[in-house]
Amino acid sequence: MKAWFIPSYGGPDVLQCGDWPEPLVGPQDVLVALTSLQAMVDIAHIQPRQKVLIHAGAGGVGTFAIQLAKHLGAYVCATASQAKHPLLRSLGADEVIDYKTQDFAQILSGYDMVLDTQGGDTLLRSFGVLRAGGIVVSVAGPPDLELARTWPMPWYLRLGIRAISWKVRRVARSLQCRYRFMLMQPSGAQLAEIAAPVDGGIIRPVIDKVYAFDQVKQAVAYAETGRATGKVVIRVDALGGSADPPHSALAA
Ligand SMILES: NC(=O)c1ccc[n+]([C@@H]2O[C@H](COP(=O)([O-])OP(=O)(O)OC[C@H]3O[C@@H](n4cnc5c(N)ncnc54)[C@H](OP(=O)(O)O)[C@@H]3O)[C@@H](O)[C@H]2O)c1
Repeated sequence: MKAWFIPSYGGPDVLQCGDWPEPLVGPQDVLVALTSLQAMVDIAHIQPRQKVLIHAGAGGVGTFAIQLAKHLGAYVCATASQAKHPLLRSLGADEVIDYKTQDFAQILSGYDMVLDTQGGDTLLRSFGVLRAGGIVVSVAGPPDLELARTWPMPWYLRLGIRAISWKVRRVARSLQCRYRFMLMQPSGAQLAEIAAPVDGGIIRPVIDKVYAFDQVKQAVAYAETGRATGKVVIRVDALGGSADPPHSALAA
């Protein structure tokens, strides 16, 4: 099998998959699969019937995370604009919120976990939906003290992390909740674990557009719009790429 990928946080994933067998956890799923698994299993320890809120349920991370949370037996609410609600429901979401017209913080309460993909104000307001002891795991917020403790770095960077995460830590503390920032870690063992529900059709990858290698600029520009539905992928069939126009995997 010849296949390689360069996952990127929030951008398109570059992959070469001449003879990549299907179905399995393809390279396009690696980043979002490991991100979702590590956030929900390793950090939040999600148990059946626990309540999980997923921000940007229609994004690359969100489309995978909804399905994994349901597979773990959780009750899932996800946010997206109205047009994408049918997709979220089809992925298993029990409840959907239109983030453009509804305020999730006014509607939800008693949640065990929030998977935050937005950072900023969305992250800060997410603590308000948690029960005491609940956790926000963010892939887009400020690094936390755990990362400062466990990653090798000079003292001034540790100090910087302490400073930039101060506000989030204060809000979490005041509501008796926890905050964790996570950076996906490569893990072959976890990919093997996640392959079973993907192979079994329980979790299905959602791919928005597939670009040829010579369309890298367009692919990055599209991913950076923040409007993609599922993953944006750059496919490398041969060095030099092809001149095929990007095709929409969703429309297929
Ligand atoms: N730390 C890590 O290890 C790690 C790993 C993976 C990803 N990330 C980060 O996670 C973030 C999300 O990545 P992604 O690939 O899932 O993003 P993405 O695919 O670009 O997300 C696009 C989706 O977000 C929705 N969206 C935009 N603004 C929203 C809002 N305010 N509330 C709810 N939904 C909103 C859009 O829906 P509409 O079109 O309906 O607006 C669109 O479907 C990025 O910042 C990425 O860098 C970090």
